[in-house]
Amino acid sequence: MKITVIQGPNLNMLGVREQGIYGSLKLDDIHAQMEQIAKQNGIEIEFFQSNLEGEIVDRIQECLGDSDGIIINPAAYTHTSIAIRDAIAAVSLPAIEVHLSNIHQREEFRHKSLTAAVCAGQIVGMGPYGYHLAVIGMVQILKEVEAIKKARAEAQK
Ligand code: DQA
Repeated sequence: MKITVIQGPNLNMLGVREQGIYGSLKLDDIHAQMEQIAKQNGIEIEFFQSNLEGEIVDRIQECLGDSDGIIINPAAYTHTSIAIRDAIAAVSLPAIEVHLSNIHQREEFRHKSLTAAVCAGQIVGMGPYGYHLAVIGMVQILKEVEAIKKARAEAQK
């Protein structure tokens, strides 16, 4: 089983960018922690970051037939991108949306997520630990999907 992690614009600047809001960990540090949890659960994990909307859409589409689940922080595109929302809906894979900060406590334009409605769940305001929780949550979702598939195959025998 494989999870793809997709990080949106400016998340490559973590550790430098607005540390009071986003903390001091770098994106690579967060990914190293996620890799460890995935390994412990026998799951493959791949990471992608882009500052470009179209590249994020392309990467989501590439998950079809390649990944079993998506963890995504669309960053600023959360609040603006119908294209990213449509791509998540199009691939029909379980997705979990993560935000380091609590977007509901911040400026009004951050309160609305265009992407959350096509995700299985949303984790906000937990800092880097939110990504940790997302991997655990995705492992659980994938186990449940696997169990349903198995039960269906058994019923058809
Ligand atoms: C963010 C929240 C967004 O509003 C913002 O544009 C980001 C980061 C977060 O992780 O808290 O770039 O997605």
